[in-house]
Amino acid sequence: MNLEEAKNLESNYVFNTYGRFPLVVEKGEGCYLYSTEGKKYLDFLSGIAVNSLGHSHPKIVKTVCEQAKKTIHVSNFYHIPSQYLLGKKLCEISGLDRAFFCNSGAEANEGAIKLARRYQSQKGKDEIMYFSHSFHGRTITTLMATDKDKYRAGFGPFPPGFVKAEFNDINDVLEKVTNKTAAFLVEPIQGEGGINISSKEFMKTLSDLRDDKGILIIFDEVQCGIGRTGKWFAFQDYDIKPDIMTLAKALGAGIPIGAIVAKKEISDVLKPGDHGTTFGGNPLATTVALSVLDVIESEKLINNSNNMGKYLMKELSFMKNYPNVKDIRGIGLMIGIEFEDLCSDFVKNCFDNNLLINCTRDKVIRLVPPLIVTEKEIDEAISIMKKSKK
Ligand SMILES: Cc1ncc(COP(=O)(O)O)c(C=O)c1O
Repeated sequence: MNLEEAKNLESNYVFNTYGRFPLVVEKGEGCYLYSTEGKKYLDFLSGIAVNSLGHSHPKIVKTVCEQAKKTIHVSNFYHIPSQYLLGKKLCEISGLDRAFFCNSGAEANEGAIKLARRYQSQKGKDEIMYFSHSFHGRTITTLMATDKDKYRAGFGPFPPGFVKAEFNDINDVLEKVTNKTAAFLVEPIQGEGGINISSKEFMKTLSDLRDDKGILIIFDEVQCGIGRTGKWFAFQDYDIKPDIMTLAKALGAGIPIGAIVAKKEISDVLKPGDHGTTFGGNPLATTVALSVLDVIESEKLINNSNNMGKYLMKELSFMKNYPNVKDIRGIGLMIGIEFEDLCSDFVKNCFDNNLLINCTRDKVIRLVPPLIVTEKEIDEAISIMKKSKK
């Protein structure tokens, strides 16, 4: 289908909720997408940190096809071995004890909030502390923990019990913590908020407050987890284990899946019927996710994320000379380039030169290429970025 036909259909039949680039994708392979108009794009956005194995990875294609022939969906009324095996694997690599499966990042966070509140309910703690520039989803509840007024406009009333503190500001946290604080909900590296890295001191403060006041730590690893930062999870850079962690995006490499992973003592407060979802943990999604984790291990992609992250960071240093570039930061293959002014022109120029990237918080270029990326592809991206300078 060509671009004009796609635009027509969209405007006639689909909610107008997305601003889209003029691209209709025909197929993908590795780090590249191919348009129906015969153009080839280098994808450094990866479906917003989802396509970590690149597009149409042969092992994932094989798993999808083989599993679909056996069974796609089975109700949670019955046993689903792949769900249990995925739970086991996630517990092994995270050091946590139990998993619950859902279908998206917002849903995982919504469930994590319910879990934290239920756990703390005996102690009268029900407030969730979230942080400036956070993004945790777009459901009515997760919007309360997402620091963007624009996203909430006209959707109220909202549930109470959410308190905002400044990200990386220890004093602000200490000032706002009360005996009602049930949990901190925090992204170890903020994605939508502009690739902001939690400081070690900030994390240590949250961990000390957990010890002193019994406040739970929920790490939202929806964007930064599953190898993106050169570790399985971003929290593993901090020597702090969460009480609860949420996952989605790269876990299914494109097949929708979300997860809440928690300490046993906490997960134990939910009994049959307390939480659930029709699709959560179905055989297709969990078999694919197991395959995703297997490919990450067998192809040593965590190592690659580390090495290619360092290489990309080094190659990006040419941008430090640009007068309007304020900062270049990131860990592994989650990198942000902060401009003094809006970066939408730069993103558009890159698009015109066949490189897919995007802009978060208006002024930060986000680079989250597939974890399979090579030096050659990074060189290609850098040369496009050089010629796309605004
Ligand atoms: C850190 C984080 N949490 C939660 C979400 C929401 O995930 P989803 O869009 O799958 O609901 C996102 C999405 O960008 C995210 O980056």
